[in-house]
Order: sequence, then structure tokens, then C-alpha cells
Amino acid sequence: MSPRTHLTSADDVPEQGGWLFTVEEPGGSLQEVFLLRLADGVAAWRNYCQHETDQELYREDIGAVVRDGGIVCPKHGSVFDAATGHCDNGPAAGSDLAEVAVTVELGEVYLTDDDVTFSHEGPAGAGSDDDDDDDVPDSTSHLRF
Ligand code: FES
Repeated sequence: MSPRTHLTSADDVPEQGGWLFTVEEPGGSLQEVFLLRLADGVAAWRNYCQHETDQELYREDIGAVVRDGGIVCPKHGSVFDAATGHCDNGPAAGSDLAEVAVTVELGEVYLTDDDVTFSHEGPAGAGSDDDDDDDVPDSTSHLRF
């Protein structure tokens, strides 16, 4: 069992929008995961729809849209139960969101999934140490053009 990683305080996880972080798969690829606060805990779902896996559920501008306890896919409107991840409607009907194991202890949220390791808070593309624009190649020079 790998050591757990502290993610954030449960109070900082919104019911609407969510809290995004990135994990690293065993092969080294990065995968976004978002937390949602539930009535009795916190859920962690990988950030893609089960209908079209290139469709994100958590969008950078608004996070994850939650209505009546369901996460709404922004592309075709399938709604996934925020607590169980199950979908019984729309084009994703019969599928379940991919879960990442987290636990809440004394109001703090920890990543406890043995299959992934924590990479960083925020989107997958935000893990670089350089805070330059992504379209500017890394350079050892301090000159900027
Ligand atoms: S991509 Fe999510 S329902 Fe179609």
C-alpha cells in the first residue's frame, strides 16, 4: 500500500464546480481527477465522460456542472450520479465514471489510490515548473522576445 497524499481540506471542495488535480499513471501519463463534496463525504472522478472519453466533465472555466446531485456532461447532457458515478440517461446510459480512491479524515481529503500517484493541483498541463507561456520554448536565457 502506497502512502496517502494530502490533497486539500474537505471544506475547500465545492459541491458545484469541484476541485481539480492531476495524478500520474504507472506508465507516466497524467490524468485529471476532480473532487466533489457530497452530503456524506467527498467523491473523486476521473475527468472524462464515459460516452466519449476525450470529453471532459470538469471544464477550466466553470468546473463540473452539478444539478440535483448529478454531474452533467457538457457535450450531450448525460447526467452521472455524483455519489456513485452511475449514468442511467442519455448516450452514456449504463456506464459508470472512473473513480479514484480518496478518504476524508478529520476534515482533510487524502488520495489513497494505489494505482496512481499525486502529480499536482490543477489541470494536467499545469504541472511544469516553468510559469512561462506554454507556447514559449524552455530556455536557459533570461531574454524574452
Ligand atoms: S460525451 Fe458525454 S454524453 Fe456524450
